Amino acid sequence: MSATLLQVRGLTTSFRAEAGRFEAIKDVSFDLGEGDVLGIVGESGSGKSVTALSILGLIPDPPGRITAGQVLFAGDDLLKASRRRMRQVRGGEIAMIFQEPMSSLNPVFTVGDQIVETIRHHERIGVRAARARAIDLLDRVGIAIPAQRLDEYPHQLSGGMRQRAMIAIALSCNPSILLADEPTTALDVTIQAQILDLLKDLREDFRTAVVLITHDLGVVAQYVDRVLVMYAGRVVEEAPVEALYASPQHPYTEGLLKSMPSIDTDADRLQAIPGTVPSPFELPPGCRFRPRCPYARDACDVADPPLLDAGPGHAAACIRLNDYQPAARAGAA
Ligand SMILES: Nc1ncnc2c1ncn2[C@@H]1O[C@H](COP(=O)(O)OP(=O)(O)OP(=O)(O)O)[C@@H](O)[C@H]1O
Ligand SMILES: [Mg+2]
Repeated sequence: MSATLLQVRGLTTSFRAEAGRFEAIKDVSFDLGEGDVLGIVGESGSGKSVTALSILGLIPDPPGRITAGQVLFAGDDLLKASRRRMRQVRGGEIAMIFQEPMSSLNPVFTVGDQIVETIRHHERIGVRAARARAIDLLDRVGIAIPAQRLDEYPHQLSGGMRQRAMIAIALSCNPSILLADEPTTALDVTIQAQILDLLKDLREDFRTAVVLITHDLGVVAQYVDRVLVMYAGRVVEEAPVEALYASPQHPYTEGLLKSMPSIDTDADRLQAIPGTVPSPFELPPGCRFRPRCPYARDACDVADPPLLDAGPGHAAACIRLNDYQPAARAGAA
């Protein structure tokens, strides 16, 4: 096992809304080692982006607040780090590719200016040297004629190129961790594959650890080593990718896999998971997945089960594992 870079422990983030405060993520924990590629999957609203943003201290406060947990990185708990330290970490040691490329590229500056500025924010280096590095980066992310592209504005680039430019900015300071939030959703399949291959190369060339957030289980199967499955703000299963596909232990994961198209299923034989994700204000008592679960039994109402051992590196939050007997706890959700 490679050296551990990041340990996330019990991360819990809430938001204030008109109807009151709700927990967008609850008790999220995972480890990330050098060169790991960890996938985070789950339906829309399950808390994938909030997890990444919480790690980097980018949750807007108000309405958001991290209410519990630790993010241990390079000897620090980032949740307690100073603003100055967080500015160093962000973009320098841990970089993020955001879900919305246009929201993180500034339309009034050229792509080159934005890369040069990021490099010079983190390193004492002259403009010429930073520009040379920027050209090299654009080349590395597969942008043709990089010296010319450097002086173009984001609107002059195609969607695929913008996404590559964002990756170039994210890589500009050789981060040890890259948080990639749906980096390819808006792109066509060919470009999607090129960008994912690029992320794979980075892991091989620089031992960069990648957290790949996606709702595409096909992408997960192809590019990821280990997977966290999130449901309604909680991690419900964690597994090495082969184990997840071969023997999913949480009924939600099973449902996700059944709803995934494959070469030998007809589109009309796909089974969608019945029902919808509960509103965070109306979580059922006990297990959050219970109302949609084909295996639900009375004991599922008692408490939201913790992650239970399901084999090497494999855990799932389902009482069917090891005949777990949930005990009602005072204040248990
Ligand atoms: N700034 C915010 N203010 C209020 N609520 C928020 C904010 N950001 C996220 N949320 C809520 O937190 C929950 C988790 O959202 P999140 O964006 O993490 O979902 P996601 O898994 O990334 O979904 P998607 O696949 O659609 O990107 C949702 O209920 C969302 O509405
Ligand atoms: Mg998201």
